[in-house]
Amino acid sequence: MRLIVTKMNLGLWAAAYIKEKINTAVPTAEKPFVLGLPTGGTVVDMYANLRMFHKQGTLSFKNVISFNMDEYVGLPKDHPQSYHSYMHQNLFGEVDELPQNIHILNGQAADLNQECADYEAAIEKAGGIDLFLGGVGRNGHIAFNEPGSSFSTRTRLVKLTPSTIEANSRFFLNDTQRVPHEALSVGIGTVLAAKEILFLASGDKKAEAVAHLFAPGTDANWPITALKTHAHATLLVDMEAASQLPASAKASLDAQMQANPAAEHWVLEVPEK
Ligand code: GLP
Repeated sequence: MRLIVTKMNLGLWAAAYIKEKINTAVPTAEKPFVLGLPTGGTVVDMYANLRMFHKQGTLSFKNVISFNMDEYVGLPKDHPQSYHSYMHQNLFGEVDELPQNIHILNGQAADLNQECADYEAAIEKAGGIDLFLGGVGRNGHIAFNEPGSSFSTRTRLVKLTPSTIEANSRFFLNDTQRVPHEALSVGIGTVLAAKEILFLASGDKKAEAVAHLFAPGTDANWPITALKTHAHATLLVDMEAASQLPASAKASLDAQMQANPAAEHWVLEVPEK
């Protein structure tokens, strides 16, 4: 796994990376490119830049299939804070992805377990996920896999922790009572099964979770550390999210920044052990 630190806008960096991946793959209807997609504040800029590339004519989603990572349980799809609404506003409403290629978990399904099993089957049928994008919770969660989740989990019904409910209450009039307490989420195992993973973390509220990557081994209490076991995983962070790195990682970052201050980004290898 690698940590990429940049002073660039994270959303622009990520969108340019995604564009390059999709365009290099030259996807077709027979062999589409499969994306795993996140929601959250961190990736709003990423979606803005993807929309811009589409508008400029340098990126098409016509042969892209996508699977969103999670959705709240019980919110109607047209609720302003549902992840269905978020995705429509931030991406699908303005790009050419075909409606039948858009997959978002239905948090109002009559049988939630069946919904999750069907989702895993649909990912498999699509040939697996080529590039899984994601954000990171303050407590290190990935998708809605809260601390303690097994790294082998697959799509399932999850309970949100008080910390996540509190963090997400900013989208619900700062009222924790309004935040759904359950969600459907891909599992950590679902994310790890992707061919490539690119997660983003910005701001000092994420610095503690980012720093945990440099503790020895993995830690189920910090789900983000699962990415250390993947052969092709990247966490892209800004300077604030990199502000609590341990001394040796910080020294390596400082040395790179001094040697090449104008670089677009600096790379730290994250040891798996
Ligand atoms: C929610 C989402 C996560 C996301 C996290 C971080 O909990 N389910 O997938 O990574 O928020 O969100 P933000 O980017 O707003 O900090």
